[in-house]
Amino acid sequence: MSFRNISKEALAGSITLGLVLVAGYCFGKKKSSRMSISKSHCGGKDDPLLQYVVNNSLREHPALSKLRLRTMEHSWNIMMVACEQSQFMANMAKLIKTKKAIEIGVYTGYNTLNIALTLPDDGVLIACDVSEDYVNIGKPFWKEAGVEEKIDLRIQPALKTLDDLLSDGQAETFDFVFIDADKVNYDNYYEKSLQLLRKGGIIAIDNVLWGGKVLNPSPDDEDTVAIDKLNKKLHRDTRVNLSMLTVGDGLTLAIKL
Ligand SMILES: C[S@@+](CC[C@H](N)C(=O)[O-])C[C@H]1O[C@@H](n2cnc3c(N)ncnc32)[C@H](O)[C@@H]1O
Ligand SMILES: *[C@@H]1O[C@H](CO)[C@@H](O)[C@H](O)[C@H]1NC(C)=O
Ligand SMILES: *[C@@H]1O[C@H](CO)[C@@H](O)[C@H](O)[C@H]1NC(C)=O
Repeated sequence: MSFRNISKEALAGSITLGLVLVAGYCFGKKKSSRMSISKSHCGGKDDPLLQYVVNNSLREHPALSKLRLRTMEHSWNIMMVACEQSQFMANMAKLIKTKKAIEIGVYTGYNTLNIALTLPDDGVLIACDVSEDYVNIGKPFWKEAGVEEKIDLRIQPALKTLDDLLSDGQAETFDFVFIDADKVNYDNYYEKSLQLLRKGGIIAIDNVLWGGKVLNPSPDDEDTVAIDKLNKKLHRDTRVNLSMLTVGDGLTLAIKL
């Protein structure tokens, strides 16, 4: 989801307004069923096959289940990552022996918790968001799972945090990055993440299908244009190996060569 056109004041202001905006944005005329299923219902309430997938593969830590249910009470819950996608990313992170990870766009921290649970004792996840309020919803569950020490929360624009890490000499040291914040900055996040990543590390990029809007980007829809542009750039990008998956709202994996 993107907040580009919505002020933080409006976000914090009215739950009712929030619901109306989310409903208008996500269930508008161009919505695809994939978007509503993956983003609002873990398990695909309206999609028996996706329900089957989740029924037969989801293995949530108890704190993750609680955090998901708590997030479902929040007015912006449509922003939460799809649970089956998050489990996949946690498995990928583990597979490449991730010790250092970055989450760009934390919200209530469902995926942050999932990745943190796979980290070794000396692992760290740099968690980037601009909203302390959202993150505070998730923190008690990080603590309950015993991983809050591994989560280094940075409340400021994510670009600033990535620049801080680069000037701190941490280039080429990260194993896994998940990009899931404001869409107009996606290319900037990608470029900086690529510098921070070690060879063989993975950048996972969320919402690359954007509810199907990428098929026909309208020139005045900056979010869709930004996503489509990055998708096309990545296809040609010889610095990475690539997969574009139809899980959730579309997930690209870029593996640094
Ligand atoms: C789609 S949500 C993230 C969902 C999350 N990855 C999960 O697992 O549920 C996007 C988040 O990006 C944050 N965000 C928006 N603009 C940002 C920026 N410039 N820097 C950092 N975070 C930002 C929002 O506050 C929001 O919490
Ligand atoms: C998935 O599990 C739920 C809850 O047990 C059940 O209601 C639903 O019928 C199941 N759906 C499929 C396709 O397995
Ligand atoms: C990238 O893809 C090429 C060609 O498919 C393959 O030979 C190579 O091993 C891959 N490298 C990584 C790091 O995945």
